[in-house]
Amino acid sequence: MAKRFVSVDSFYELQKLIESEKDLFLLSGGSNMLLTSDIDKLVTHINIKGVSIDKEDENCVYLTVNSGEDWHEFVLWCIDQNYGGIENLSLIPGNVGTSPIQNIGAYGVEVKDVITKVEALEIATAKRVQFSNEECEFGYRNSIFKNKAKGKYIITSVSFRLTKKNHIIHKKYGAIESELQTRGIKNPTIKDISDAVIAIRKSKLPDPKEIGNSGSFFKNPVIAVDHFQRLQKLYPEIPFYEVRPFDSNSTSLSADEAGPVYHAQGDILYKVPAGWLIEKAGFKGKRYGDHGVHGKQALVLVNYGNAKGQDIFDLATIIQKEIKSLFDIELEIEVNII
Ligand code: EPU
Repeated sequence: MAKRFVSVDSFYELQKLIESEKDLFLLSGGSNMLLTSDIDKLVTHINIKGVSIDKEDENCVYLTVNSGEDWHEFVLWCIDQNYGGIENLSLIPGNVGTSPIQNIGAYGVEVKDVITKVEALEIATAKRVQFSNEECEFGYRNSIFKNKAKGKYIITSVSFRLTKKNHIIHKKYGAIESELQTRGIKNPTIKDISDAVIAIRKSKLPDPKEIGNSGSFFKNPVIAVDHFQRLQKLYPEIPFYEVRPFDSNSTSLSADEAGPVYHAQGDILYKVPAGWLIEKAGFKGKRYGDHGVHGKQALVLVNYGNAKGQDIFDLATIIQKEIKSLFDIELEIEVNII
C-alpha cells in the first residue's frame, strides 16, 4: 500500500520535486511489478503526456513521446497515421516511458529496434540527460536501466524512428502467420499485423484489468548445447530455437520463432520456452486460493483477486525450484519485485 502519492504532469514539475525529495518510488503503468510489501517512499506517478514529431522525410518519421503516454494507445495512433515499426508490439500493457527499461518485445520485434534516444532526469543532479540507442545497452528484456543506471534516472521521454512507407512486415513469428491465414490475408498491412497480434494476445494472455498479472513472469532461459541435448533425449517434443550469444536480435524471439539457424560449432545456445517447462512440470492452470498459473500461458502468474504479492512470489519460488530439479534450469524472474 502507498502511504504518500503524487502525480507529476510535466518535466518541470518533476525537476522541482526531485530538488526537494530524491527518494521516490516511481510508478508508471505499474504493469511489470509485483508488490510484496507497503511503500514508505513518496509514490510518484509519472503522468507526463504528449507526442511530438521532430522531423520527417520521405521514408521515416522521427517522434518524441513523453513517458506517461499509454503504450498501446501510442501503437494504435501510429497505425492510424500509417507509421510502421511497432505494430507487433500491440496490446503490451504499460507506458511509453517504461518500454525501454525491459526492452519490451513480442513476435519478432523489440522496442530497441525503433528507439533512437531516451531522455531522462538524473536524480542526483535534477538535470536532463540523453541516452542514445547504444548507450541504453539493450538486450533480451534488459537495458542499462535495469543494471548500472537503475535507480539513478527517471525516464521522461522516448524518441522513435518509424517508417512511413515500405514498412518491414514481421509476420513469420509465433502464431501471426496462421492468424493471418485464418483471416484470408496474404499481404498484410501494419493494421492487419496489429489486429492479428491483438487477437493472439487476447487468446493467450489475461487482461490485467480483469485478472491481475504482469505478463511473462519469467524470462525464457538460454542453455548450452549439451544441456539441451540431454533434455531433448528425455523430451523429444521440447520446443526450442538456436541463438548465438552475440546475436542480440535472435534472443528477442520467442521459442517458437525459429529464426535463422546457425551451425557453427561451439557457439550455439538454445532458448527454450519457460511456459513449456512450467506446463511440463504440471503447474499450468493450477489455482492456489486466489492466485495461480494461467491456464492458457503457463509463463503468466495470476492474481484472481485478493492474493498478496508475497503469495505470488512464493509460488514463483516453488516453480523455480521444481524447474531446477526437473530440468536443471534456473528460471530468471522478469518482473520487478518490490
Ligand atoms: N508453450 C507451452 N505452454 C505454455 C506456453 C507456451 O508449451 O503454457 C510453448 C508454445 O506452444 C510455443 C512456445 O512455448 O511452442 C512459445 O510460446 P509463445 O509463443 O506463447 O511465446 P513465449 O516464448 O512463451 C514470449 C514472450 C512474450 C511474447 C511472446 C510472443 C518472453 C519471456 N515472453 O513468450 O512476452 O508476447 O514471446 O513473442 O520472452 C512478456 O514479456 O510479458 C510477454 C508476454
